Amino acid sequence: MCGIVGYMGNQDATPVIMNGLKMLEYRGYDSAGICTMDDGTAEIRRSSGKLINLERLIKDKPLSGTIGIGHTRWATHGKASVTNAHPHKSGSVVVVHNGIIENYLALKDELIDRGHAFISETDSEVISHLIDEKYELTGSFEKAVQLALKELHGAYALCILNQKDEKTLIAAKSGSPMVVGIRGDEYFIASDMPAIISNTREMVIMEDGEMAVFREGRVTFFTITGEEIAKASRHVDWSPLKAEKNGYPNFMLKEIHEQPQSIKNVIAGRLLDEKGDVFLEGLNLNDCELNSFEKLCLVACGTSWHAALVGKYLIEEQCRIPVDVEIASEFRYRDPLISGKTLVIPISQSGETADTLAALREARGKNAHIVSICNVVDSSIARESDGVIYTHAGLEIGVASTKAFTTQLVALYLLAIRLGRANGTISQEKGQEMIVELSGLPAHVKKTLELDPQIEEIACEYLTSWDAIYLGRGISYPIALEGALKLKEISYIHADGYPAGEMKHGPIALIDREMPVFILAPNDRHLIKVRSNMEEVITRGGKVIAFCSEGDQETGRRAEFTLKIPWAGEILSAVLFAVALQLLAYNFAILKGKDVDQPRNLAKSVTVE
Ligand code: AGP
Repeated sequence: MCGIVGYMGNQDATPVIMNGLKMLEYRGYDSAGICTMDDGTAEIRRSSGKLINLERLIKDKPLSGTIGIGHTRWATHGKASVTNAHPHKSGSVVVVHNGIIENYLALKDELIDRGHAFISETDSEVISHLIDEKYELTGSFEKAVQLALKELHGAYALCILNQKDEKTLIAAKSGSPMVVGIRGDEYFIASDMPAIISNTREMVIMEDGEMAVFREGRVTFFTITGEEIAKASRHVDWSPLKAEKNGYPNFMLKEIHEQPQSIKNVIAGRLLDEKGDVFLEGLNLNDCELNSFEKLCLVACGTSWHAALVGKYLIEEQCRIPVDVEIASEFRYRDPLISGKTLVIPISQSGETADTLAALREARGKNAHIVSICNVVDSSIARESDGVIYTHAGLEIGVASTKAFTTQLVALYLLAIRLGRANGTISQEKGQEMIVELSGLPAHVKKTLELDPQIEEIACEYLTSWDAIYLGRGISYPIALEGALKLKEISYIHADGYPAGEMKHGPIALIDREMPVFILAPNDRHLIKVRSNMEEVITRGGKVIAFCSEGDQETGRRAEFTLKIPWAGEILSAVLFAVALQLLAYNFAILKGKDVDQPRNLAKSVTVE
């Protein structure tokens, strides 16, 4: 996610803004920029890469002025480059933006038709052109911003300057976070409190549909329709580090609870509702090229490999294309049977996992076409791919992958729609249905998160266990594997996941009165069979905890605990079961006093073999 910092006061704006941007580095970024206003002249400096590059630029070409805006960019539309870095300037207007403008392509075409020339590939540049155009029409900075915002669909947090109204800074917010810090007649604007908390603890939280006009030592708040509103400030006592966690006790819980938003991020700007299709910027393959592949090969490690397994079930069933799933560390040494007719899809949150990168290079050596699914923009795997589908989950700091996993599942769901629409196995109507189900997913995730108290109760009950088994059928089988991995890696309880139908082929020997058996039983085509597997465990004295779907009064009747998961359709319910199992592992680990963010022996990105 991008980071924004703005300042108006009596200090040199540049160090205030640069220090603020440094405190937002945890959000992840790939380029940065700053603009200060002095005597009616807006000076802009932008650089790709880390903030040190911007600092060097400013040292060579110093800035001046007591009003300014700054930005760290996490690329969504347009590669990481100086040209695409913010601030963006059009005419007299300078803008920094965090969010995604979903209708930017249409707005850009209209602006080009009206004579506007664009420099960048970003959605954000459209905003500066729109405001500049409205300003030339109205002569009012505030009015111009209000008129422009009315045309935007999507999420934004904005800081805006105007050379022709040099003593004014305007901020506006809808869908992306923004706070205002106040210290006397000085104002600090930021995406997040860590950026400004060292300057002041008096904060005003801006809400969606609000804007703030900072002018000559005063701030006035409005709705974006122009109605003046009163906003109360609050004193915050968070330490900067605690502020980075937004009040959560650790990054893992914060990231688990970010999933409704991260799923919105991976969807934003990609749904073509009318067509029942999706737009995957970065896929770089048309229908004919997509249909030319004889098979797909998903290759990954760990949790990302579990996502790949879900992808196999999903794509083979919906698109009738053969999908191989490979563990990268095996694939890279197996002289795999792939060719130029294979679409190889490395899946990696970090984009730096050594085995997955080596697998990509093995595939490259066999002339395969490579489209990766990554979270970190411009990571090694992303850079070496022919195309990239970014998951836009935002920086994931907790070592145990949570929001990255669920956004990988959603990215695979989007890819399945694209593949199925390209080869005709998914009709326009079916695609529209899949898009409607997907659009409802964030709300279902939010509801699933509310099950935490019941999940904590389950963890309490089985806290002394040394072993656990997770069972699932169909698309729930890889979710069972993922649940077992989450438990292992943060609570250190040994756990295994199995296809529920496999129990009688050996693992059922493990059943006893001690070991909890977590059975995933969504209300899908496998439910009757899973109930039978549950009976196999119970009749042998096993302890079953049933995760089933809301409205299912039958499945859990003989289980020791039953958790009712919201229903999001046969495919997307897997995301909700994954979220519930993340919370289960989290509660086990916290109750056992483990460090959930930095589990022993583990690294966030395994960049060595
Ligand atoms: C997930 O909880 C683990 N931390 C680990 O399995 C991880 O998924 C694996 O190392 C792959 O990482 P990547 O997605 O960054 O490639």
